Amino acid sequence: MLLAVEKLTVSYDKALILNEISLKVEEGELVSLVGPNGAGKTTFLRAITGLVKWDQEVLKGTRYGDILISGAVYFKGERIDGLNAPHIVKKGLGHCPERRRPFSEMTVLENLKAGAHLQRDREKMKKNLETVYSLFPILKEREKQVSATLSGGEQQMLAIARAFMSEPQLLCIDEPSIGLAPRVKQDLFGRIKELKELGLTILLVEQDVNLSFSLSDRNYILSHGRIVAEGYSQELINDDTVRKSYLGL
Ligand SMILES: Nc1ncnc2c1ncn2[C@@H]1O[C@H](COP(=O)(O)OP(=O)(O)O)[C@@H](O)[C@H]1O
Ligand SMILES: [Mg+2]
Repeated sequence: MLLAVEKLTVSYDKALILNEISLKVEEGELVSLVGPNGAGKTTFLRAITGLVKWDQEVLKGTRYGDILISGAVYFKGERIDGLNAPHIVKKGLGHCPERRRPFSEMTVLENLKAGAHLQRDREKMKKNLETVYSLFPILKEREKQVSATLSGGEQQMLAIARAFMSEPQLLCIDEPSIGLAPRVKQDLFGRIKELKELGLTILLVEQDVNLSFSLSDRNYILSHGRIVAEGYSQELINDDTVRKSYLGL
């Protein structure tokens, strides 16, 4: 098991945001965690990547109140909850946060190189860059362009590509479809599928159930901070209660 989360619970100032979430990702899988706005998807990714811990320490005693986390997160068999965010990234758990934010003043190429800052091997970095460019040819075309001038879809591609450049063993992607037109989304999800086919293990967090289910191996449905169902796409879609109550299909 590459990632195993056990009973992860997070509360922000007494409001329970995540309630005993357990989730697993095996090597090579593409797992989606779907749920509506406010379900707790982003909080989940921020919790496993050490960012809620960061909030907890930095926001302590401020108007945000007390942040509590409990449960356990194992990555490659090693317990990682309690580690800080940069340490977790170094272990190979990559995070492409919500609302694509490449460094806007930097060019596409500079952003990609920034993603690879932990990679000391120049040849490997070049090889990864070639992979990125074959997967996202538009980024090659826009190589010298300042990132702020990219379209929404291109910025999202760049954000994912930048995370890929850090050579994660597990890449967590937070709502890549947000704010994109249907055709752009379709295209982007096609690329995510190609990343999976290259052997990358992916945890995809999404509101768009149809798109996520079309490429995932397994899924978890999150509702009000709880996992309410899990399983293969077809199995969940065929379940009347799940479909009507949680998928809005
Ligand atoms: N820093 C925070 N302080 C207080 N409440 C928060 C904080 N971050 C998220 N929440 C609350 O947690 C819930 C889940 O938010 P979020 O994880 O962003 O959901 P999603 O990504 O599924 O839309 C929301 O009700 C949100 O208001
Ligand atoms: Mg979110």
